[in-house]
Amino acid sequence: MADIPKTRTIAADEEQRRLRDFVRRAEWMNGRIAGARVAQPGDAAALARLLAHDSIGPRIYTMPNPINAETMKVFIEDHLAQRARGDGILFVSFNADGEATAYFDVELWPQWSIAKFGGAVKAERQGRGFGGACGLAAVEWCFDQLGVARICETTARDNDRSIRLLSRLGFRQLGEVISHRPDGTTRPSLYWEMEREDRYAVGSSRRTTIAQQDSVGAAPPNFS
Ligand SMILES: CC(C)(COP(=O)(O)OP(=O)(O)OC[C@H]1O[C@@H](n2cnc3c(N)ncnc32)[C@H](O)[C@@H]1OP(=O)(O)O)[C@@H](O)C(=O)NCCC(=O)NCCS
Repeated sequence: MADIPKTRTIAADEEQRRLRDFVRRAEWMNGRIAGARVAQPGDAAALARLLAHDSIGPRIYTMPNPINAETMKVFIEDHLAQRARGDGILFVSFNADGEATAYFDVELWPQWSIAKFGGAVKAERQGRGFGGACGLAAVEWCFDQLGVARICETTARDNDRSIRLLSRLGFRQLGEVISHRPDGTTRPSLYWEMEREDRYAVGSSRRTTIAQQDSVGAAPPNFS
C-alpha cells in the first residue's frame, strides 16, 4: 500500500453503492478483452507460472515474494474477499492449454470513486502490443463498465513500457509516492491519474492496433 490515491473527492452514497455492487457481481471482464474471468483458488498454480517470471513478479509491488502456488492461492483468496466487500477484483485470461496468459486486477476506493489497476502479459508476448491493448481495455473497463470518476496508477521509475503505456493512454504523472510491498519493503513509484473526461484523449497506439489484429478471434479480441 502507499499513500494513494492523491485525489480524494467524496462520491455520493448512491455512487459508492453502485460501484461496490458492480464489483460484487462481475464475473467476466467483457468489453475489449473477452475471456478474462474472476480468478479462483484452483487457478493458483497457473497464475504462479505466469507471474513468477523475472520480467513480471519483481516489477509489481503488490505481488507476494516468493511467487508460488501457495502464495498465489492466498493472493487469489484475498482478492475474492475484496470482491465480496466490493473494493477489489482479480481477472485472469487462459489459453486453450490452460496457461494463464494475462492478469488484470483492480483496487477500488468507492468512497472517492477512484480505481487503480494492475496487470501483466505473459513474458513471451511482451513488447508486441498486447499490453497496450490490455491497458486500453482496462481503462475502458474502469470508466465504461465499472464507472469510476478517476483512475490512479503507480509504476516503478525504470518500467519504461508501463511509463510509455500510461502516457499513451492519457494518464498524467503527479509526482511520486512510496509503495509498500507485502513483505514490508518499499519502492519509490511514479504516480499517475486520469479523469473520466480525459479518456477521450486516449491515443491510439500503432502497436495496440497490431495486437488487436493479431489476436485470436473476432471482435472483441480474445487474449487467450
Ligand atoms: C507492462 C506491460 C503490461 C506492457 O505490455 P507489453 O505488451 O509488453 O507492451 P507493448 O508492446 O504494448 O508496449 C507498450 C509501450 O512500451 C513501448 N515499449 C515496448 N518495448 C519497449 C522497451 N523494451 N523499452 C521501452 N519501451 C518499450 C511500446 O513502444 C509501447 O509504447 P507506444 O504505445 O508509445 O508505442 C508488460 O510489459 C508486462 O506485463 N510487464 C511486466 C509486468 C508489469 O510491469 N506490469 C505493470 C506494472 S505497473
